[in-house]
Amino acid sequence: MMRKLLVTSALPYANGPIHIGHLVEYLQTDIWVRFQKLMGNQCHYFCADDTHGTPVMIRARNEGITPETLIRRVHAEHYRDFTGFAIEFDNYYSTHSEENRQLSERIYQGALANGSIVKKAIQQAYDEQEKMWLPDRYIKGTCPRCKAEEQYGDSCDACGAHYQTTELINPVSTISGRPPVMKESTHYFFRLGQFESALKKLFADGYVQASVQNKLDEWFSEGLRDWDISRDGPYFGFKIPGEENKYFYVWLDAPIGYMASCKNYCDRKGLDFERVWNGGEYEICHFIGKDIMYFHALFWPALLFSANLRTPNKLFVHGFLTVNGQKMSKSKGTFIMAETYLKHLDPQYLRYYYASKLSGDVSDIDLNVEDFVNRVNADLVGKLANLASRSGPMLTDKLGGKLGALDKNGWTLLNELTAAKTEITAAYKSLNYAAAIRKIMALADVCNKYVEDNQPWSAIKTSPEGARTALTAILNAVKVLTVYLKPVLPAFAEKIERFLAVGPLTFADVETAMEHHTIGKFIRLIERIEKEKVDAMIEETKPQTAVPTQPQPEAQLDEPLAPECTIEDFMKVDLRVARISKAAPVAGADKLLALELDLGALKKNVFAGIAKAYKPEDLVGRLVVCVANLKPRQMKFGLSEGMVCASGPGGADVFLLSPDSGAKPGQRVH
Ligand code: 2FM
Ligand code: ZN
Repeated sequence: MMRKLLVTSALPYANGPIHIGHLVEYLQTDIWVRFQKLMGNQCHYFCADDTHGTPVMIRARNEGITPETLIRRVHAEHYRDFTGFAIEFDNYYSTHSEENRQLSERIYQGALANGSIVKKAIQQAYDEQEKMWLPDRYIKGTCPRCKAEEQYGDSCDACGAHYQTTELINPVSTISGRPPVMKESTHYFFRLGQFESALKKLFADGYVQASVQNKLDEWFSEGLRDWDISRDGPYFGFKIPGEENKYFYVWLDAPIGYMASCKNYCDRKGLDFERVWNGGEYEICHFIGKDIMYFHALFWPALLFSANLRTPNKLFVHGFLTVNGQKMSKSKGTFIMAETYLKHLDPQYLRYYYASKLSGDVSDIDLNVEDFVNRVNADLVGKLANLASRSGPMLTDKLGGKLGALDKNGWTLLNELTAAKTEITAAYKSLNYAAAIRKIMALADVCNKYVEDNQPWSAIKTSPEGARTALTAILNAVKVLTVYLKPVLPAFAEKIERFLAVGPLTFADVETAMEHHTIGKFIRLIERIEKEKVDAMIEETKPQTAVPTQPQPEAQLDEPLAPECTIEDFMKVDLRVARISKAAPVAGADKLLALELDLGALKKNVFAGIAKAYKPEDLVGRLVVCVANLKPRQMKFGLSEGMVCASGPGGADVFLLSPDSGAKPGQRVH
């Protein structure tokens, strides 16, 4: 019976690029979706960028662009990277969309009408200088337990403690460097506890894998707490209906983004969204990482319950990626961006390697670089591509490219391959790709043994028709192995299809044999991985200039380093981008120029000792960096209200610091 499936992967945040850790999930999902489609099931794969929240707002502000411009750019980058890895979405949308706004409001109104939303006053950290509320991650201070410095507002990386922001010692805002103040504000809360029994029923019906059930039991025994679903402005998100300065918390509208992506797709394809998503014909399956289980196992279905909407059928949870047995690391060069990988290596290597490691549970998978190189070369090149390259060209060059009939031995080989279909498809279906790959490679060994036993390269000299019969069996075997691997290696499969002049192949083609069929021209299928390319990719990922652990010997510098300062000291200096709006000589001071600096919302007059290095008329319009909070100084010629930053010893050797074009007057320099 045909299955109808709506499949999603977690929506990646729009504040950063895709890396190989993310790819575990998108490749796991893509392989499953391709498998379902190749089995003849109806399957749609939806995803989107997760665009809202404080990090996107701050990043856009730091780049001097609007959040909308930032998320447009990142969307294009994400889509480019996914496409590079042959991840094929039916729709890749954005949570910052009209569909998502409407669906979020609808679900919120549903929850409100159901009595599942309450308002409560809470105390929260506030940055008075930046006039914004601070999420825990934007506050740093000394850990109350182990006294490690520079720890986040909610937990300590050094000792692993979790605490309230108010417990942090000497807290400062990471945005302004000032201590935050605690202020009261009213927030909206979702009453998760109302849905405890509905959620328990969902789990009893098999929503999650058995291996994560324990975690849920833990959460239930801790008790389900109300969930804060609002944030006060400034915030990049959807406004809460009826409120002026309150927004939905990013995690409220993020999963609704799954629906919005589906709605956008349905509208474009002339399908009835209500029927597709809510009608019950389709199974809904979410793929996620174990870090966001709480949101998907509890909040998301509970929200849907509260709005009387259907809940998803399956939550597939995977583990994290480690590289060489350790967390991905920037300094080791293992925090590899998708874009960097694609510059150096064929995406099929990673698709294959991840597939060979994924077994459908929540355990982490390890990318061991040496094993990666060896396995790809041994399996893909040594076993698979070789099978085709040892037989295809011979048939084309010596036997007119025409297959013959299968003999008894050929059928025996082929029957062994086709008999494995049930086992292989069951493995794919249950996300145990590792088992599928093991079986496929064991079959490839059987095929290679057949080649060795039949030696078509010798047979061709004495019995060309005997060689044709053997090659017919081998190329039929190549076809079946290709079908089995097609969810993992779509590009490889496409080359084989062209070369065998068949296809597009699906799992139904496992049982059909090619006899008396003329094949196409052989094409190179895949290159060996060169270890040097892997090394080059890792090298490129490492930070460009290694940070010296010891300060450089001071003798090397013209001017010795000043005594060390802390980040808090540094943050006291408020550096801003400014545009020089006026510049004029100062009568009686041949080293000084009188500058008027435009900081957007305010102007400052500054006397700068740069007259020997710059002509006033060359300076007007130029961007500079100025110390904007310098105490004004009364000079003989007037009040100097700041300083422009420059390097050099003075006189004619002065070099103004200039921000790149795109920086906006008034922006803070961090
Ligand atoms: O953890 C994350 O990367 C989130 N952006 C995932 C969101 S998934 C869904 F709920 F939108
Ligand atoms: Zn600590």
